[in-house]
Amino acid sequence: MPFDRDRLLLEAQGLTKAFDRNVVLKDVDLTLHAGEVHAIVGENGAGKSTLIKTLGGVHRPEAGKLLLDGQDTVLRSPADAIGRGIVVIHQELSLAPHLSVAENIFLGHFPRTRLGFVDRRRMRSETRSLLQRLNIDIDPQTLAVDLSIAQQQMIEIAKAISFNAKVLILDEPTAVLDESMVDTLFDLIAKLKAEGLGIIFISHHLEEIFRIADTVTVLRDGKLTGVSAVADIDQNWLVSKMIGRDFPEFSAGMRKIGEPALEVKGLTLPGVFEDITFTAHKGEIVGLAGLVGAGRTEVAQAICGVTQPSSGEIRIFGRKVRLRNPKAATRLAMAYVSEDRKALGLLPNRPVRENATISKLSRFRRFGFLRLGKERAYVGEMIRKLDIRLAGMNVEIRTLSGGNQQKVLIGRALAIDPRILIFDEPTRGVDIGAKSEIYAIMEELVSKGICVILISSELEEILRLSDKVVVLRRGRIATTLSRDEASESTIMHAAALAG
Ligand SMILES: Nc1ncnc2c1ncn2[C@@H]1O[C@H](COP(=O)(O)OP(=O)(O)OP(=O)(O)O)[C@@H](O)[C@H]1O
Ligand SMILES: [Mg+2]
Repeated sequence: MPFDRDRLLLEAQGLTKAFDRNVVLKDVDLTLHAGEVHAIVGENGAGKSTLIKTLGGVHRPEAGKLLLDGQDTVLRSPADAIGRGIVVIHQELSLAPHLSVAENIFLGHFPRTRLGFVDRRRMRSETRSLLQRLNIDIDPQTLAVDLSIAQQQMIEIAKAISFNAKVLILDEPTAVLDESMVDTLFDLIAKLKAEGLGIIFISHHLEEIFRIADTVTVLRDGKLTGVSAVADIDQNWLVSKMIGRDFPEFSAGMRKIGEPALEVKGLTLPGVFEDITFTAHKGEIVGLAGLVGAGRTEVAQAICGVTQPSSGEIRIFGRKVRLRNPKAATRLAMAYVSEDRKALGLLPNRPVRENATISKLSRFRRFGFLRLGKERAYVGEMIRKLDIRLAGMNVEIRTLSGGNQQKVLIGRALAIDPRILIFDEPTRGVDIGAKSEIYAIMEELVSKGICVILISSELEEILRLSDKVVVLRRGRIATTLSRDEASESTIMHAAALAG
């Protein structure tokens, strides 16, 4: 389908958005042409999600103009934006879990028979041809709960297309994907681009910008600090516009590895993982690698008492334990920082202060009274140390940017003075500056003799930090690699190819 590359689909001029008195977008411009992939980058809290929520009709800007196809437009709601062809896929995916793929795609615009009933046959056949056109190999009758995260994302995109989207906006779509799934998503984006859609996408993975974006806009503290054709810039330019200074290099320290801290023997939960055996020592970082779905999180949750393995043995500092719930793990000074902030971590409508200390309230209690002063001092110190950007410790945590929420969860885990710490995708959605801060925190923890288990889909992260790497494949240990043996290819081979 030929289309006009010069067609300006969307133009934002001088957008300004404030929450109370906190101005988080200041005079931001943005243009998007047909067939253009436009990336938005910036540190956590820079205003990226706020910008696209403004373009998607979620937020009303205090000042500025939005032109769609040259027409001055005020978006009244997300539905209004969708009606005008702007569809946003947010950081949190939102399919209805117990509806089928076809129902989800047509939710809100079901095809009807002449008598006004939902025309299920047409819905299925239209879904099938839509998915075919987009090269998405999923049965229209599958329930959304049974889809992987990557598939859910594909279906959200297909849904957008079924609404005749002209502008597709994706907020950190690759944060939840492993590397092979990123390729599939990028193929789909390339296809939509070739059909003339304009695509805006946010990512903290700068290499992705160079892979698929034509244009990039950089935000810092709500202000536009740079916009350029990707062909004209390099990574250093991006980083300097993002953080306004040179990037601090992270260096791994020398480790002193001590006695066994966590020993796992033959741990099994049928159908989920089997015969998991490894030992992690004091002062050591053990990487748990594998593809999404290999069972890494499930193993971690069994170790921490979230689920109960059916057989096998867990020893903590030599003592055999049976943990009935996560509290029991906390009592043994074992903390788990969950990958899934929404399901296991946050109390979204509670203040940051409370979210930060909930795992260790006793620390701030005396004779049953909460010692607010002490708690406040502790949280203040955490905010400073982890460089958490927020308006104040009493704001609801849901109002923080994604990366800053993650830092609060890390702070919460540190509050129990852990001896064993399990990090599950700790830098997902975290900007590169904060990432190196989190790496430095891990380095400091192991230098104090704490044992760290690191689950990550980013091979670079695993390789950089781990003393040894346990690779899982389909719920089993595929191999265990020493620091010297571990490389991108040995890990990927074990995770995906062999067997
Ligand atoms: N609903 C809200 N109420 C109050 N403040 C908000 C709200 N939404 C966002 N903010 C504030 O706006 C600022 C920008 O947040 P935003 O989510 O746009 O950042 P971001 O660039 O997307 O960051 P990240 O990379 O961490 O996702 C933050 O300081 C955040 O606390
Ligand atoms: Mg965001």
